[in-house]
Amino acid sequence: MTENISIAIDGPAGAGKSTVAKLIAEKLGFLYIDTGAMYRALTLSVLRQGIDLAAEAMITELAESLKIELPNTPAENKVLLNGEDISDAIRNPEISRIVAIIAKMPGVRKIMVNIQKSLAQKGRVVMEGRDIGNKVLPSAGYKFFLTASAEERAKRRYIELTNKGYRVSLNELVREITERDYTDRTRVTDPLVPAPDAIIIDSTDMNLEQVTNIILSMVNSGITGGNYK
Ligand code: CDP
Repeated sequence: MTENISIAIDGPAGAGKSTVAKLIAEKLGFLYIDTGAMYRALTLSVLRQGIDLAAEAMITELAESLKIELPNTPAENKVLLNGEDISDAIRNPEISRIVAIIAKMPGVRKIMVNIQKSLAQKGRVVMEGRDIGNKVLPSAGYKFFLTASAEERAKRRYIELTNKGYRVSLNELVREITERDYTDRTRVTDPLVPAPDAIIIDSTDMNLEQVTNIILSMVNSGITGGNYK
């Protein structure tokens, strides 16, 4: 049982989970698992195949048939879909606009959660997502819920996407992030809510290095529970 030494990091879109989770995994020598990448991979496949977003049974069937792999080395974190490297393709803003519609489907979640649970059995992990502390790793030794204002999160996403060459509007990103959060928070199956024993960190006025250091010092001193602002 490795779950009780693993670290769960949940939170809304653009709160800095990936950056922080990767740094922590690297520092502690844990495996980094980005569960959002799995829902994004499925979304990419749905778009490529032109499946109607209302065709829940077909999408669930597709989820069952795909081979999604997250091989990670300290140097890079790749996402493979049936062997193809889709690491960049899944960050496309079009995927971000649609992914929450697919991620709220109960059948899809059941498949993904099972895969994630088995990945966590492989060793000590830092796993990031929306339902890790509540559903995927309820016995994780450390649970964090990262948040920040929607404006700050949109600003971070704006910089990230602009650096990658996408032309996006900041106002549009605020609207999209707010809408995606709403879908994630209000879905019936495994909604985005902090686990009762998660430490909530509001990073609106912090940089991600500060957040990483806070988490590392808490993990190193074995502190869990409560809020941090
Ligand atoms: O990186 P960003 O915060 O934009 O999102 P992500 O972590 O890649 O997750 C994309 C979407 O996948 C989320 O908005 C959720 O709809 C879904 N997701 C989920 O439902 N459960 C998870 N454990 C992870 C992601």
